[in-house]
Amino acid sequence: MGESITITDNRTGETIEIPIDRGGIDARAWGSLLPGIWFDDPSFTATSGADSAITYLDGAKGLLRYRGYPIEQLAGSTSFLEVAHLIVFGELPNRVQLTAWSDEIASEAPIHENFHKRILEGFRDDAHAMGVLVSGIAAMSTFWPDGKDVEDPVCRRTQIIRLIAKMPTLAASAYRRSVGTPYVQPDPDLDYTGNFLSMMFCQRDRPYEVDPVLRDALDLLFVLHADHEQNCSTTAARVVGSAHADPYLTVASAAAALSGPRHGGANEAVVRMLENIGSYDNVDDFIAGVKAGDQKLMGFGHRVYKNYDPRARIVKDTAHRVFEVTGRNPLLDMALKLEEVALADEYFISRNLYPNVDFYSGLIYQSMGFPVEMFTVLFAIGRTPGWLAHWDELLVNESRIARPRQTYSGRPERTVPHTDQR
Ligand code: ACO
Repeated sequence: MGESITITDNRTGETIEIPIDRGGIDARAWGSLLPGIWFDDPSFTATSGADSAITYLDGAKGLLRYRGYPIEQLAGSTSFLEVAHLIVFGELPNRVQLTAWSDEIASEAPIHENFHKRILEGFRDDAHAMGVLVSGIAAMSTFWPDGKDVEDPVCRRTQIIRLIAKMPTLAASAYRRSVGTPYVQPDPDLDYTGNFLSMMFCQRDRPYEVDPVLRDALDLLFVLHADHEQNCSTTAARVVGSAHADPYLTVASAAAALSGPRHGGANEAVVRMLENIGSYDNVDDFIAGVKAGDQKLMGFGHRVYKNYDPRARIVKDTAHRVFEVTGRNPLLDMALKLEEVALADEYFISRNLYPNVDFYSGLIYQSMGFPVEMFTVLFAIGRTPGWLAHWDELLVNESRIARPRQTYSGRPERTVPHTDQR
């Protein structure tokens, strides 16, 4: 045996040696020596939830690779659709494959008019776009019940294409519904991200000119968000998918997890935080409040990165390119000062707190004209290939249903009293 761990049950003196395999040990070996003794790890700080070949992440070194390719190489040299192909199928497409893949996606992008009328129009005018998106994805389950055959790889492929294709259409419709402008169906002559921008912002009687700098920047942001191994929303997708729920309900549950401000909702929370701070001069007081525990510095910290998030570095560079077109976002100076103060402060240094992907992305989205309620929706479009690749991988690997154990801390057995005696 190579490297291993030896565990001894001090109650019986029994011992077991478990091999270390790729940084982990097989919990079944632990279970064979210690049945009924659970690891108490509710937020999975020391538990591997999956054996996955999709994304490699080394948080201490700040490394991120999709299918072996460093994120720094993919960013700027590959389009989002190429990266989606890489994540879902394992390889970057050649020219012929890319054309076929882009055509398949484009042909599945439209959404039935009834979906707009019957589902989207039922929401309140001020409904948050993430709530509309999550509900809209779940409602797709009723439009495509054929997606339920999750054990059939051909069926899974069809649903993967549908979901990647329809997410921008649904997202743009969620926005147009909120501002009361007519829905726009996709234009098959436009590329994936240019088409999304056009569906978002085109006006009825005026042709919409997609700015290539903004389109490339948004496409790059989609690439940066495309997967991030066992994050909270992907774990939600894997847990729900392990019950063999259909892909629409599985992705809806992932998007629901993403909406939280501790996860993808942080991009919206960062901009709201910067607006609340209000002025450059208030930054020091705000940081003092963070250190006193009054609030979190949104867009900082990460469960896995204990070094600069490599995505945040790329987002920061992208911001400058975007601002050359849109003009400098007035919140940028405050964000830069927050970062500078935090990175020099013992509180943040000792806790390894660095900017994460959400710290600068919201400023870019805002400068492009997206309302804050759409920021996490943009994250969801980017993350969809990742969720689906994990769902597919889970089903290929024929995993068992996810079902953790618990440490019970409730009452011992007691007798139900009569209503008069309660
Ligand atoms: N601001 C201030 N203090 C923080 C922050 C922060 N953003 N993040 C963590 N800390 C502190 C914690 O309070 C804790 O301090 P303590 O040791 O004195 O108790 C210490 O740093 C360690 O943090 P944990 O709580 O162990 O971090 P955890 O891994 O549980 O949470 C999380 C990670 C949720 C991302 C957290 O850092 C956070 O809330 N950040 C702000 C929200 C955010 O930006 N989320 C986006 C993450 S990236 C993504 O999901 C796409």
